[in-house]
Amino acid sequence: MGKKIVVLTGSPRRKGNSFAMTEAFIQAAEAKGHSVTRFDTAFMDIGFCHACMNCYKKGQPCSFKSDFNGTMADAILAADAIVFTTPVYWYSFPAQLKGAIDKMFSFVVGGKDFAGKECALIACCEEEDPAVLDGVRLPIERTAALNGWTMVGSVCVGGVMEIGDIDKTDGVARAAALAERF
Ligand SMILES: Cc1cc2nc3c(=O)[nH]c(=O)nc-3n(C[C@H](O)[C@H](O)[C@H](O)COP(=O)(O)O)c2cc1C
Repeated sequence: MGKKIVVLTGSPRRKGNSFAMTEAFIQAAEAKGHSVTRFDTAFMDIGFCHACMNCYKKGQPCSFKSDFNGTMADAILAADAIVFTTPVYWYSFPAQLKGAIDKMFSFVVGGKDFAGKECALIACCEEEDPAVLDGVRLPIERTAALNGWTMVGSVCVGGVMEIGDIDKTDGVARAAALAERF
């Protein structure tokens, strides 16, 4: 049976390397009968967590005005699987994606049941050293473990800097193959 997959992207480059992998993944996942809802965090106004602990006190997940509220939060809560796709920025996540990840804390504060999902990561960076990708891989793996999610796979590609560099790697093919694991 088809699953509800939410894809959260982090790059602001619409034709960039992580988007190329994201699109290959989505195409393959939809071909398998899954329904995919994609949120491009770089083009949303998500903001950051204020640690006010007022989550859901005004009805919405985040008490501040944020594009996290509404369809994004609802889709994450309803999803069978969450896929994070991101470049590495300074050995970590782009701020826009990190803002969305941080705002998932509202589910914890609000007592929402969001365990039992599947999770995957698609990531890329300029440097060849695979340890650079640990900056995004380890937080996602630990977040998944804490949330009771099952990591089904990670596609981590180093050595890609400019738009189009991903085509010199097997990243797009591996991202499409990741869909087979759901
Ligand atoms: C602000 C910024 C910070 C970056 N920091 C790193 C880094 O720490 N390590 C690295 O290997 N690449 C770094 N990069 C390079 C990107 O990860 C790389 O260009 C990647 O392919 C971009 O993916 P995209 O095309 O999907 O945006 C950085 C790029 C930017 C714009």
